[in-house]
Amino acid sequence: MRLMPTKKGSGDPDSDMAQVADPTHGARHIAIIMDGNGRWAKKKHLPRALGHKKGVEAVRDIVRVAGEMGIEAMTLYAFSSENWNRPADEITDLMGLLRQYIQSDIDEFDENGIRLKVIGNYKALDSDIVQLIEGALERTAKNDRMTLAIALNYGAQNEMLRAVQSIAAAVKKGDFEPDEIDVSHVSDALDTAGLPPLDLLIRTSGELRLSNFLLWQAAYSELYFTDTLWPDFDKRELQRALKSFGDRDRRFGGR
Ligand code: IPE
Ligand code: IPE
Ligand code: MG
Repeated sequence: MRLMPTKKGSGDPDSDMAQVADPTHGARHIAIIMDGNGRWAKKKHLPRALGHKKGVEAVRDIVRVAGEMGIEAMTLYAFSSENWNRPADEITDLMGLLRQYIQSDIDEFDENGIRLKVIGNYKALDSDIVQLIEGALERTAKNDRMTLAIALNYGAQNEMLRAVQSIAAAVKKGDFEPDEIDVSHVSDALDTAGLPPLDLLIRTSGELRLSNFLLWQAAYSELYFTDTLWPDFDKRELQRALKSFGDRDRRFGGR
């Protein structure tokens, strides 16, 4: 999809140059820690639930924009394995929004060639949500324009633990010896198996941490932190992040 080589330092992301050049700036897979819904609501003296609702609207817009830009895969952190530490009513609100989102947006995913993927231990969610997820996974399985991976009940340490367990089981079965385990065995045993390497990891709301997200996959990702709160993150913000990505020199340990 690259139409012209990306010109470094061309300034405004909305400039003609940026419009003509590849809007992805070469990023195939981006991931976002969508943080700041609560602070967005607090700033506006609104209930937290409304912050989450606005957050879902931002998801809808960004998924659309990323698909149009030609991003191959986008992984969104929606609910962490540590988010169970929140008050029960907030968890209920979040699960309600998840139900609504899958039901309301599945047609649009399908029409736009979006393949849904879920990472994390989603089978521990309420059984009706598991059913909705599995229906959506099945329905969109053959779509190939963009993969939207949603992280639900996700924690990178748990993901790696499950990968280690499955590799240990394969060794026990006699599939291979312990000293034959290599990087691709691990990558293939993670929930993100099959996705392109993670190019860019974005976190909104000014927090400078990974909060147990994609710890293996982020080994050589570019990191982008913005103070913008997730409900305010829009196309322009995504363009800015991709522009920053395009201007970086990725060396992968070389020179
Ligand atoms: C992100 O917003 C949404 C989830 C973690 C589900 P927060 O709810 O964490 O918002 P802040 O960090 O309290 O502002
Ligand atoms: C990370 O945000 C999880 C999601 C965005 C789903 P949190 O708000 O849960 O992270 P911490 O607790 O500030 O690290
Ligand atoms: Mg937060």
